[in-house]
Amino acid sequence: MKKISIAIDGPAAAGKSTIAKMIAKDLNYTYIDTGAMYRCVAYYAFIKQIDFHDEVKVCALLEEIHIEMLPDGSIYLNREDVTFSIRQNEISMGASIVSSYKDVREFLVEQQRKMAQGGGVILDGRDIGTVVLKDAELKIYQVASIECRAMRRHKENLEKGIESDLKQIEEEIEKRDYQDMHRDISPLKKADDAIEIDTSDMSLDEVVARIMELVEERV
Ligand code: DC
Repeated sequence: MKKISIAIDGPAAAGKSTIAKMIAKDLNYTYIDTGAMYRCVAYYAFIKQIDFHDEVKVCALLEEIHIEMLPDGSIYLNREDVTFSIRQNEISMGASIVSSYKDVREFLVEQQRKMAQGGGVILDGRDIGTVVLKDAELKIYQVASIECRAMRRHKENLEKGIESDLKQIEEEIEKRDYQDMHRDISPLKKADDAIEIDTSDMSLDEVVARIMELVEERV
């Protein structure tokens, strides 16, 4: 069967990575979490005590940053396992800030394209269908209502035993979406040829089944 490239974009906490992982498993494709790469840059700035808003200093760190993404989903930054540390709230917001810098985007987009060479890949992020893989055979724009996204994240936190405030989550997600949609370079938007899926009232299995139908039409 032909191996295609799949792009999944959409706002924060829309369940993109959960869906992308399930599809990658079903198809035996490589999953690339591009958001994790922006998170690594933010995390590195954080441990170096550099203000996320200081573009010059953040970009100067890039040459020291080496990211590895293992098939089991773990993320290494300069040989340190950062899989969990990059998920903190502060780092989510930092990733949204540093992702607006041209040098940061160029640095990561180049790596993402290299990793995606040859197809059989599924990438999720904000600019996959519009910039990184403009020629992807299948582009999904995955959305869900803000209430729904915040509630899912809130439940996830509680399940993991992390303290969680629903209202605060909602505010943070809205702020991050606003930043990601209004930056100058590669803002989040639906590619003209992307298929929008609103997952607010869908189960995970329903979303996966819908995407698998679309994959089958293309392979
Ligand atoms: O998908 P995520 O929530 O882990 O992404 C964290 C931030 O990284 C997000 O707020 C914006 C940025 N990002 C981006 O600009 N482009 C991507 N392809 C992926 C993420």
